[in-house]
Amino acid sequence: MFITKKQVYNALKQVIFFAKKDNIVDLNMIDDIDIKDDEITIHIIFPKKDDPAIGIISSSAEKILKTEISEDIKVSIIPVSEADKGMGPLSGVKNIVAIIAGKGGVGKSTIAANLAVSLTKSGKKVGILDADIMGPSVPMMFGVEGQKPGVIEREGKAIMLPLENYGVKILSLGFFVQPNQALMWRGSMINKAFNQLMADSEWGELDYLVIDMPPGTGDIQLTLAQTYNVRGTILVTTPQKVATADVRRAAMMYRQDVLTIPLLGIVENMSYFTPLDMPEKKYFIFGKGATDELASELDIPVLGRIPIVEKIVETGDNGSPIALDDSSLVTKAFKEIADNVEEQVKNLRN
Ligand SMILES: Nc1ncnc2c1ncn2[C@@H]1O[C@H](COP(=O)(O)OP(=O)(O)OP(=O)(O)O)[C@@H](O)[C@H]1O
Ligand SMILES: [Mg+2]
Repeated sequence: MFITKKQVYNALKQVIFFAKKDNIVDLNMIDDIDIKDDEITIHIIFPKKDDPAIGIISSSAEKILKTEISEDIKVSIIPVSEADKGMGPLSGVKNIVAIIAGKGGVGKSTIAANLAVSLTKSGKKVGILDADIMGPSVPMMFGVEGQKPGVIEREGKAIMLPLENYGVKILSLGFFVQPNQALMWRGSMINKAFNQLMADSEWGELDYLVIDMPPGTGDIQLTLAQTYNVRGTILVTTPQKVATADVRRAAMMYRQDVLTIPLLGIVENMSYFTPLDMPEKKYFIFGKGATDELASELDIPVLGRIPIVEKIVETGDNGSPIALDDSSLVTKAFKEIADNVEEQVKNLRN
């Protein structure tokens, strides 16, 4: 039998990588095709080594090739990971860290923004991606609201150039969606925009890409976990909300069999109140101890605690994260969190 590569490519165009909503040929996932008589060997590049899509894509590729070419051919699929190939749009990103929470309003964006700033201050190369379509607040927190990221074309594809402020590279779903339109976006559209921000953007070399995730357990969470190599997640809670079921749900979601992303730890936000004129005093107005209980239940560390401080609201609103201010005690608290995150990531990599 004489089989051409063109025949194989054409058939493989019918194989869809659902997480990225496109076929594996156009997604440039075909690394190599080797044809010997009626034996076809195909190397397919997957984002992750243990990618959950490997099984389904391999079997549908085999099925389609047999249908399109001949039942008598022998097909071998060899999965290769982007990391093995030293490639992939995010191959320059060492650690993807996702900030998660059970409910909205616990300070996820505040923690994400200040962690990014704090890591930058300790000499790391950092990007932040705001994946919260319903409440994108990262542009405001970094004072780049109203600006648009640049776009260049590479190999016929539009590639986005992140904005930058305080040394942090920034992209946000908020750059594409008007707040009053967000509700009309369907899950598939949000996923597509999210993938564009992740994979079709010029992040370059980064030590950390911090992702401000939407609250809860939805589509984007699944896409992130199944498509990208996430180093770990950080769970943000507040003392009064820590005991609720959705916090556990959010924490457990990433740990389920297919996702298995390590939880690096918990950041307790709005831990205590410190009056401006008595910086040594701590009032635990929402109670104390629940976060430690959750941490021991999940067997993860508490990475740090951030007090309730009016300045956090002010600096968030005016686009200069509080962690930039070296005179603030909160900056010290964020530095501790950043150090603990680095420690946890280091432990994972050993
Ligand atoms: N430690 C804190 N002290 C005082 N105010 C805070 C603190 N943390 C967050 N805030 C304020 O609480 C509000 C909500 O915080 P933030 O936007 O970070 O939460 P979020 O979890 O990202 O919310 P959303 O679910 O809406 O995205 C903001 O106005 C922020 O400035
Ligand atoms: Mg937010």
